[in-house]
Amino acid sequence: MTETLKGLLIGCGFFARNQLHAWAETDGAEITAVCDLDAGRARAYAAEFGIPAWHDTAEVLASGAFDFVDICTTMETHEALVALAVQHGVPVIVQKPFAPDIDTCRRIVANAAAAGVPVMVHENFRFQKIFRRIREILDSGEIGELTFGRLSWRNAIDVYSNQPYLLKTERFMIMDVGIHMLDLARFLFGDADDVSCFTQSVKEGLAGEDAATILLRHDNRATSIVDVSYASHRFPNPFPQTLGEIEGRKGSIQILEGEVLLVHADGVQRRETIEADARDWTSAPWTQIQDSVPRTQQHFIDALRSGRAFETSAEDSLKTYALAEAAYRSAETGRVVSARDL
Ligand SMILES: NC(=O)c1ccc[n+]([C@@H]2O[C@H](COP(=O)([O-])OP(=O)(O)OC[C@H]3O[C@@H](n4cnc5c(N)ncnc54)[C@H](O)[C@@H]3O)[C@@H](O)[C@H]2O)c1
Repeated sequence: MTETLKGLLIGCGFFARNQLHAWAETDGAEITAVCDLDAGRARAYAAEFGIPAWHDTAEVLASGAFDFVDICTTMETHEALVALAVQHGVPVIVQKPFAPDIDTCRRIVANAAAAGVPVMVHENFRFQKIFRRIREILDSGEIGELTFGRLSWRNAIDVYSNQPYLLKTERFMIMDVGIHMLDLARFLFGDADDVSCFTQSVKEGLAGEDAATILLRHDNRATSIVDVSYASHRFPNPFPQTLGEIEGRKGSIQILEGEVLLVHADGVQRRETIEADARDWTSAPWTQIQDSVPRTQQHFIDALRSGRAFETSAEDSLKTYALAEAAYRSAETGRVVSARDL
């Protein structure tokens, strides 16, 4: 594969703008058409990003003109859109959350696997620079075998202006940000099974929860706490930073505000600042999120070209999704739920 891979982006809404900027700087790939059920949106992004074609339906996939498809619509549309790409044998990167429930995720995975079409879930948080650096530190063995972790996303960003559909989403916070944190927990601490969770709906008038506290037991017996909230009125507002700590048998890492890591091992402490790269299309406070998008998309293209597995393949993402599903079931029943028993 030496030529540039040609992609179709489906869904020209709020977040697709970041993806289109990111595609423009992804090596070995380009978006040659966009589509949206709202033709005005598709036309506007095609004009803004100099993309040759726009369409109002994804049926254009049948043309055979695409090497991959990037699906940036909300979760309830993913099953049909992934199935369309699979039907035409076109590899897919699809936004999180994967689907509204685990049975739908499983159907998507089975359908793609039967056709041998690779599918990756766009899980960008693990591609943030700071988490790649933490992974390196963990791999070096510096803090030893892990015993405990906490990943915390608590802020009061007004998500509702850009994403008004969140006001009406019944599975809101765990699906919107919790799923990123659960993927990060797996990335850093390994697979997990037992899950307990409490949820809260703090802002008035929401259909779903806007805060959740999740406790996980990992296969290596480490425990972790994942807590997410859009109702935490802190100053300064830490959005969009994931804060927390990781403890091992020989040391610890604290993830502090300002993209700072405090690494303590063998009685010595050091401070590392791992700042996301600002680009001409990124803007504070979003930079950390935006900078992770080209990194995620480059991983998708590199893996596609080399035939390697995606880190967050659809199949792998089922494990993350099962933790989210288990969290909801624990919150409903007040019991510890095994993700593997779902
Ligand atoms: N990874 C992240 O950091 C991050 C951040 C924000 C949003 N997201 C995710 O991105 C996804 C999209 O979110 P958004 O806020 O951009 O949504 P949005 O509602 O702003 O945009 C979705 C677009 O898809 C179009 N669409 C829907 N069904 C379609 C179909 N069948 N064919 C073609 N177009 C169709 C809609 O008309 C709309 O323009 C969500 O799943 C969201 O959770 C991820």
